[in-house]
Amino acid sequence: MHPGSMSTLDRFDRPLRSLRISVTDRCNLRCQYCMPEADYVWLPRESILTFEETATLVDAFTSVGVDRVRITGGEPLLRRNLPELLEQLAAKPAIADLSLTTNGVLLRDQAAALRAAGLHRITVSLDTLNGDRFRELARFNELPAVLAGIDAASRAGFDSLKVDTVVLRHRNDDELVPMIEYGKSVGAEVRFIEYMDVGGATHWSMDAVVSRHEILARLASVYGPIAPVEGRDSAPAERFRLPDGTTFGIIASTTEPFCAACDRSRLTADGLWLLCLYARGGLDLRRPLREGATRGELAQLIATVWSMRADRGAEERLGAAAREAFIPIAALKRDAHLEMHTRGG
Ligand code: GTP
Ligand code: 5AD
Ligand code: SF4
Repeated sequence: MHPGSMSTLDRFDRPLRSLRISVTDRCNLRCQYCMPEADYVWLPRESILTFEETATLVDAFTSVGVDRVRITGGEPLLRRNLPELLEQLAAKPAIADLSLTTNGVLLRDQAAALRAAGLHRITVSLDTLNGDRFRELARFNELPAVLAGIDAASRAGFDSLKVDTVVLRHRNDDELVPMIEYGKSVGAEVRFIEYMDVGGATHWSMDAVVSRHEILARLASVYGPIAPVEGRDSAPAERFRLPDGTTFGIIASTTEPFCAACDRSRLTADGLWLLCLYARGGLDLRRPLREGATRGELAQLIATVWSMRADRGAEERLGAAAREAFIPIAALKRDAHLEMHTRGG
């Protein structure tokens, strides 16, 4: 499927290549589409994997085909000494691509250290350029910090810098053009993300989703004809080019899911391995790890479970009649692993 691959294939012939590692379930924002509730249950501190434990699991994953690692949260920059983990991961030749997704609040002071530790690429979530709106959408008044963070990242020399915007009807859908213009000004590729009914999105409704189709139509009415960029591979984002050459992306998880090419899985901060963003459960890797399983045994377990994978969560949601929030609040309260902020987006 890809050159030199030792990758395991799942039941739909999808290789295991990308691992998204959440390093904390905590977050310093409360975005409406992800953490709109007043209270959350946090993972117990003693269950959080140490960097050494994470690195051991990563070795097991790379031995069965993983070659891309993305660090996520909650908010990953809340994790103490994160550059130490990045340094360990960056030193592993099997990892061809090492990236991180952050909300940017703490990025200004950390951008240079993250780059120096060996991080290749960075993505910052930013949903509005308006300060009052930022506070409404994310509860905290942190727009200036995030803008300063993006600025610092653009100067730190990453291989790529992206800005991710979840588009919500009547909340920020009038900012498509300002966001593209902002991206140009800081040298970042902007990606518009359709609002998803993932666990934690308790306020989700189809009415609030602005589709890929609508986003493209609105941008074309301002900029003129939009051309697709070839070579999507297994990426969630489809890329497009404006007449002036500016590229941007759309992640159409809700209206045009891309499960058929999904080579991603997720590891929560406490070592639960999830095979799909919509999975209701996963494989606990912390237990065998702490009971002393060898790297080979862990690799075997991972390969066996992946070979049975048949997940296509977003596609299944597409077929759901009378679609509303996927996981009820009561279930989220019982199991924080169902929350998007625990699984890392
Ligand atoms: P690149 O490697 O830069 O292409 O990153 P990415 O697009 O995989 O990563 P990022 O964390 O920026 O993902 C952006 C958003 O895309 C996520 O927060 C999700 O909303 C969505 N997304 C990412 N992976 C998946 C996936 O496997 N399934 C679905 N349905 N959505 C996903
Ligand atoms: N819909 C789409 N994306 C989401 N994210 C979190 N919740 C949702 C949701 N309901 C992802 C986005 C955002 C990051 C913080 O997590 O990519 O930028
Ligand atoms: Fe992958 Fe599940 Fe997302 Fe589909 S919904 S792209 S299978 S994580």
